[in-house]
Amino acid sequence: MFIIHNFAVFEGLDGSGTTTQLRLLAERFAGHSPPDSPLPPFFETCEPTGGPVGRLIRSVLGGEISLEPAAVAGLFAADRYEHLYGKDGIAGRCARGELVVSDRYLPSSLVYQGITCGEELPRRLNADFPLPELLLFFDLDPQIAQERLNARNGREIYEHLDFQVKVRERYKALLPEYAEAGVRVECVDASAGIGETAELVWRAVQKMPIMNRGYF
Ligand code: TYD
Repeated sequence: MFIIHNFAVFEGLDGSGTTTQLRLLAERFAGHSPPDSPLPPFFETCEPTGGPVGRLIRSVLGGEISLEPAAVAGLFAADRYEHLYGKDGIAGRCARGELVVSDRYLPSSLVYQGITCGEELPRRLNADFPLPELLLFFDLDPQIAQERLNARNGREIYEHLDFQVKVRERYKALLPEYAEAGVRVECVDASAGIGETAELVWRAVQKMPIMNRGYF
């Protein structure tokens, strides 16, 4: 598996704060461009995407439609293919020198669909996708994550304590594999306050070689 440079992903349990932290990171970049480039400084994205496959996945997550777990695993992989290689996809952006950060990516499939389908299927479906340069894992006690989810409206199909306990175990087992494959893996303590966690994220992102281009 090869690595896409200039590409970072946020991973973690539901409720671990990846979406909030990505928003804060984007705010930090707002108005800061590399001096030698007409490119936007920073592109934030997420999986499931807002595209047609991603929208279908959202209705599965919300419980509006019910599909076989293996079919859902296939949808996540199809959504990812479009995300990477479709119009204005991650691969093209990173190759042009943009910094792309995604709220969830391939590791989510190995973890979540690993639980619902067994390990082999998501590995096979995702075997040819490239890896990110940086993987930030937002680590949080599943019980605390549940308390955060309680403050939100409604629950998605995976947002239950027994499932999330397995999610955390699987991430912990999987992360060393990525480190071995050459991904920079950093664990962020997501139980800290929002501002403190944002600082940890900022420090990790600053170590990406693309940051030497003089954004700030
Ligand atoms: P999440 O980032 O939690 O979205 P939101 O905060 O907007 O609800 O992601 C949605 C869910 O999708 C989450 O429970 C993890 C799950 N998921 C998978 O099961 N497999 C995948 O490949 C991806 C990308 C996400």
